[in-house]
Amino acid sequence: MEKEVKDNRLYWDGCDTVQLAEKYGTPLFVYSEGELIGRFDELRRDFVEKYENTRVAYAAKAFFPLAMAKLVEDCGMCVDVVSGGELYTAVKAGFPAERIEFNGNNKSREELELAVEYGIGRIIIDSLQELALIEDVCREKGRTMKVLFRITPGVKSSTHDYIVTGKKDSKFGIPLDDDVILPQLKAAIESEYVELYGLHFHVGSQLLDNVSHLQALDILLDLVTKVRDQLGYEMKELNLGGGFGVTYVDEKRPPYSYFLDPMMEKIEGYYSQKGLPRPNVVIEPGRSVAAEAGITLYTVGSIKEIKGVRKYVSVDGGMTDNIRPALYQAEYTGVLANRAQEAANDVVTICGKCCESGDILIRDLSVPKPAAGDVFAIYSTGAYGYSMASNYNKNTIPAVVFVRDGKDRLVVRRQTYDDMIANEII
Ligand SMILES: Cc1ncc(COP(=O)(O)O)c(C=O)c1O
Repeated sequence: MEKEVKDNRLYWDGCDTVQLAEKYGTPLFVYSEGELIGRFDELRRDFVEKYENTRVAYAAKAFFPLAMAKLVEDCGMCVDVVSGGELYTAVKAGFPAERIEFNGNNKSREELELAVEYGIGRIIIDSLQELALIEDVCREKGRTMKVLFRITPGVKSSTHDYIVTGKKDSKFGIPLDDDVILPQLKAAIESEYVELYGLHFHVGSQLLDNVSHLQALDILLDLVTKVRDQLGYEMKELNLGGGFGVTYVDEKRPPYSYFLDPMMEKIEGYYSQKGLPRPNVVIEPGRSVAAEAGITLYTVGSIKEIKGVRKYVSVDGGMTDNIRPALYQAEYTGVLANRAQEAANDVVTICGKCCESGDILIRDLSVPKPAAGDVFAIYSTGAYGYSMASNYNKNTIPAVVFVRDGKDRLVVRRQTYDDMIANEII
């Protein structure tokens, strides 16, 4: 998102971030609604309207408070949930059931019951036990369910190992072993409780090249052929997952079309060559919608200089609101929001306040010499920040504010100490 600086201050979607920090306190997540809507507009223009029978299921795991659920709904998108909690949030936000799709490698019976009762659009089966469990729940409730099977395509993506999901050694998806997957697909085709819709893959996250998506797609289409040849069944839907990368520091976010056009070309080529109609195509972007729309504001506290080694600048949040640097060495950049036009004359390490040496948010960042009380903004924290937040050290979970054209509104109030201990019994 375009960075706007006025009178030495960082603005976000027309709002003065220093004023936001004063008004709501810090740490504070600030999201540009304009940017979120802009990403959905790009998806609509370059995918949904460009290609028939396509849809976008926003991956709720990236960021999904009620206000985001409402925004996703208002933008006409579907949603991909991975837990009873995300499903419940979608339901509470008034999301139409048929536009909810359910992923996850270990869905509980209770979660599946909720999904079947609510009558959601799709369940993406991720294990060999799941089909029988869904059938059982559907039998009990007198319902049917549309299902896809998530396969493990066995491709390696160029991203951090913790966010690779499509390689052979993965807890996600069903291994591509004909003896394993074909009997499962056959059982689904013959089932009176589920309607087999299609196949799904998700290769990994924060991908800046399209190689593994295209490799996985070839593998998916091979399976489509096998299912047609051996089981006489034509898939109605292909789900290509998410994983599209964003700008954190110097990387350049590829446009959606960079991933989607060659995949659509491959799919359309495959079906036109066979003389068959193309099935629905679905994608599940999460990070690429939410990451760059969000920033986190912190207040600078203690500053420690270890001569000849490093200068630690502590902020009032850390791994409790952004676990990604500690979890997989994710890199970020940021700025002193109240001194945004001053020249950098210091190199510092921005650290959190948690009792972990790994609670470092940014290493070796050039900034104007910071002082206690400065407001520090970290960019691109909109995905997997708030949604992965924890109460470690009994720090409270920050508030979330949406901003648009100079107006701000609170969408998640700051957790209080009382909220935090509400379920504890003495
Ligand atoms: C099944 C599935 N779909 C979609 C996503 C969203 O990925 P991203 O946020 O990288 O777009 C994930 C992320 O882990 C996933 O597991």
